[in-house]
Amino acid sequence: MGIQIEADVSEAIGPVPRRLFGSFAEHMGRSVYTGLFEPGHPTADDRGFRGDVLGLVRELGPSVVRYPGGNFVSAYRWEDGVGPVEDRPVRLDPAWHSVEPNRFGLHEFAAWAEAADVEVMYAVNLGTRGIQEAADVLEYCNHPGGTELSERRRANGADRPFGFRLWCLGNEMDGPWQVGHKTADEYGRLAAETARLMRMIDPGVELVVAGSSSSDMPTFGYWERTVLEHTAALVDHLSLHAYYQEHDGDVASYLASAGALDGFIRTTAGIIDDVLGKAGLDKKIGISVDEWNVWDQRRWNEVEQHDLIGGGWREHPRIIEDDYTVTDAVVVGSLLGSLLRNVDRVTMANQAQLVNVIAPIRTEPGGPAWRQSTFYPFSLVSALAKGNSLRLTVEGATVHTGLHGRVDVVDAAATFDEDGHGAVFLTNRSTVSATEVRLRVRGARLAIEETWTVAVPDGHDRHLTNSATAEPVRPVPLPGVTAGHDPEGTIITATLPPLSWTALRLATVVVRDA
Ligand code: AHR
Repeated sequence: MGIQIEADVSEAIGPVPRRLFGSFAEHMGRSVYTGLFEPGHPTADDRGFRGDVLGLVRELGPSVVRYPGGNFVSAYRWEDGVGPVEDRPVRLDPAWHSVEPNRFGLHEFAAWAEAADVEVMYAVNLGTRGIQEAADVLEYCNHPGGTELSERRRANGADRPFGFRLWCLGNEMDGPWQVGHKTADEYGRLAAETARLMRMIDPGVELVVAGSSSSDMPTFGYWERTVLEHTAALVDHLSLHAYYQEHDGDVASYLASAGALDGFIRTTAGIIDDVLGKAGLDKKIGISVDEWNVWDQRRWNEVEQHDLIGGGWREHPRIIEDDYTVTDAVVVGSLLGSLLRNVDRVTMANQAQLVNVIAPIRTEPGGPAWRQSTFYPFSLVSALAKGNSLRLTVEGATVHTGLHGRVDVVDAAATFDEDGHGAVFLTNRSTVSATEVRLRVRGARLAIEETWTVAVPDGHDRHLTNSATAEPVRPVPLPGVTAGHDPEGTIITATLPPLSWTALRLATVVVRDA
């Protein structure tokens, strides 16, 4: 039994924000050092930015990159990362049991972001620090000049303000692992007063208040409600963080992760509406999914963390450099589908992270950089998803999952833009069978321009990964996709390979007068 999908190009969920395709660079492991930044690498420029990595970042297509953390930020002094490099202090980074040399900081990241053509999303420390330091770093970055802080920036080489617009009010403050962890009330008060002062310094900022670090947190729901009761009038976005993994070989549940993300987003949206309604606030608060990905957290918690601490204090230790499989790529593709389906509430999202640490791009110090399997769904969706995300109905075969009950065998998302280009993203969750899809698109005569599918290559299994020497997991064209027309629009048929993620690029057929 196959799947029938219905869409109408005039029935949109909402416009696809470019910020949906964000990423994240944290000072942890080898994300920055020997990732983005490696002076002396054969491809590095005179600033130490790896050219091979910059090339892959441009190909990946992130729109915004969150920095400098993550857990790291909750004990970070931003001043350590500015000024002459030889004067910068070496510090302990308690979050990742590492030594932070501060050879890379604010100016370096701003320059890197310009080279990568991405917007900066800057997080302030609300763990060990507070209102004053948040206001200081904002003034340093965005005030034109004439004050001690803005003149210090100018003296450090940035004559014009950085003009960062997006600011995170701390990171995962609900988590007991967070340096300076707080209760919802403590954080809500601090975030509100920080937001108030930041808006006085620069009324143009967009502020993201920290929501739950997982839907499994015991405080999920209570946390959002309490924090928003303090901050709703002062913030623009509420964050949520969502990581998924395969538990004990339960691949069916893993492949249904996008449904769990849909639920997390919709529940969070309901709380936002409720708090805004009760407060009588006529405004919108978007959801910033500012950390999402697949991550084998069990390995981190049970093995890697102990090895890290056992290894002593070191600079940029190798941590959470997950090798991503075909299965992981398929799940990442479907999570991007979830983000597209929720553009009425999700204003931005950041895949965590960009390089080496749970990342689509990997590097070796002094050696190559390569694309992990998860690189491809991200780069394709970032390139193809334009215009509006379309409302779809999906009917047909389902699969049983241990964690999420019955789910559609195919996860689907689609976009259509004002120039008549469309894109369809399809995940086949069946690990054993190909699935026939019949997609009716009303209101447009469409042709298939190009197809890509990420599936298990012949002779391999679903655990296949890419490496420094070979990239066997990559998209290939999907044969046999057809598009036919009738008075209502277009009927597309495709046969999706088992355990696969597929992207179709569509273009409106030009009908010439006879
Ligand atoms: O992305 C890795 C870590 O995951 C981040 O530092 C933290 O915010 C989250 O728990």
